[in-house]
Amino acid sequence: MLSAAREGNTAVRGDTVLVQSPEAQAARIRVPFHRPSIGEDEVAEVVDTLRSGWLTTGPKVRRFEQDFAAAVGARHALAVNSGTAALHLALEAAGVKAGDEVIVPTYTFAATGEVVTYLGARPVLADCRPDTLNIDATTIEPHLTARTKAIVPVHVAGQACDMDPIMDLARARGLAVVEDAAHAIPTTYKDRPIGAIGDLTAFSFYATKAIATGEGGMVTTERDEHAARVKRMSLHGLSEDAWNRYTERGRWYYEIVDFGFKYNLTDVAAALGIHQLRRTAEFHQRRRQIARTYSEAFADLDTCVAPREVAYGTHAWHLYVLELRLEALSGSRDDLVEGLRQRGVATSVHFIPLHLHPVYATAFGYRPGAFPTAETVFRRAVSLPIYPQLADDDVALVIEAVRDTLKALRR
Ligand SMILES: Cc1ncc(COP(=O)(O)O)c(C=O)c1O
Repeated sequence: MLSAAREGNTAVRGDTVLVQSPEAQAARIRVPFHRPSIGEDEVAEVVDTLRSGWLTTGPKVRRFEQDFAAAVGARHALAVNSGTAALHLALEAAGVKAGDEVIVPTYTFAATGEVVTYLGARPVLADCRPDTLNIDATTIEPHLTARTKAIVPVHVAGQACDMDPIMDLARARGLAVVEDAAHAIPTTYKDRPIGAIGDLTAFSFYATKAIATGEGGMVTTERDEHAARVKRMSLHGLSEDAWNRYTERGRWYYEIVDFGFKYNLTDVAAALGIHQLRRTAEFHQRRRQIARTYSEAFADLDTCVAPREVAYGTHAWHLYVLELRLEALSGSRDDLVEGLRQRGVATSVHFIPLHLHPVYATAFGYRPGAFPTAETVFRRAVSLPIYPQLADDDVALVIEAVRDTLKALRR
C-alpha cells in the first residue's frame, strides 16, 4: 500500500516535505525538513537583474552556464527551467522516440519516469541495490530488449551510481546514457564530477536542492550536436539566432525548424544560481559534517543503519536516508515519522517506488512485489533534515528525537 508522508501542517511535494505556515512552524515544527540558504550576494544579484531591464534568458543565464560547465568539467551546459525539463530535453537529444523503451530505476522521483512518456516511449523499471539505493549494471541487464534505447541512472541522495559497468553495458548494446543528477551536486565518481560521464546529464535547482534557484535545471554534455539540439528544443525549436533576436546584434527574423518546448531559464533565476554555485564547497562541507554527526550518533543502535558511502565517489549528501531495522522494532517507519513529528522534527520519505503508484499499475501493469529490494528499502527509509542552515542545536535535537523514538519503538 502507498503511504505518502503527510504531516499535519506540512506540505508534501513528492520528494520533499516543506513547512508552509509560520504558525505551524512556531507551534510544532522545530526543525523543518528544509530551509534555503540565500545570502546577500544572491539578493544583490537578483536586484541587479531586476534593475537591468532584462528578466528572461540573457547574460546571467550565459554566465551561469559557463560557470556550471567549468564546475562539472563539461564541454557544454544548457540552462533550463527545471530538472524535469532537463531530463526531457536530454532524452529527446539522445534520440528517444515513440515506441522506444528506457530503463529507469523504480526507486526515484516522479520526474525520472514521466519524461520518458512525454516522448511516447515506455519507462521500463529496474530494481535498486540495497546498499546504495542506486541501480547498477546487474539490475539493469535483465530488462534490456531490442526496443531499449537509453538508460537513466539516478544518483540517489547524491551518491554516485557505479558508472563504469553501466557505461560498458550501454556501449556494448548501443544505448544512450542520460544521468539524472538532480541530487548530485557535488558528487564525484572515481575523482570525476558527475556531469561529463554519460551522454547527457540533467541537474535540478529546485528549492531544496544543493544549488537552488527556486525552479531550474541544467543539461550538460560533451557532444556539440547534443548541446545544439537541447538548446534549440528548449526554445520552441527555433533557429539558433532566435536567441539573440531582442539583443543589439539580434534580428527580428527566425525560423521554426522543429516542434520544440518552452523550457528556457530566466536571468532572475540564473542570478541566484551564479552565487549558489560559488558556495557549493561551503554547502557541501556543512552537509558532510551533519551526515558524519548523524552517523556517529546512530552507530551504536541496532534499530537502524546509517547510509553507506561507496569508496569510489564523493557523496553530495543531498539526502540523509536512515534505514530502519524493522526486525528490531515493534513499530513501522510511519511510527518513527510520527514520533519525530511530535518531537518537532519534520522528515520525508525517499522514495515511494514508481511501480507502486497507481498510474504505473494502470498504464504498464506493474504490481507490488515486482521489485523486492526497492519495496524493502521504501518500508525502512526515512530522510532526516540535512542542509547548511541546520544549526548544531538542530542536529542535536534531531539525534535526540531519533534515539528516543527508536528506543520507544524497540521490541
Ligand atoms: C531524482 C529526481 N529527478 C528529477 C527531479 C526533477 O527536478 P525538478 O523538480 O527540478 O523538475 C527531482 C526533483 O525533485 C528528483 O528528485
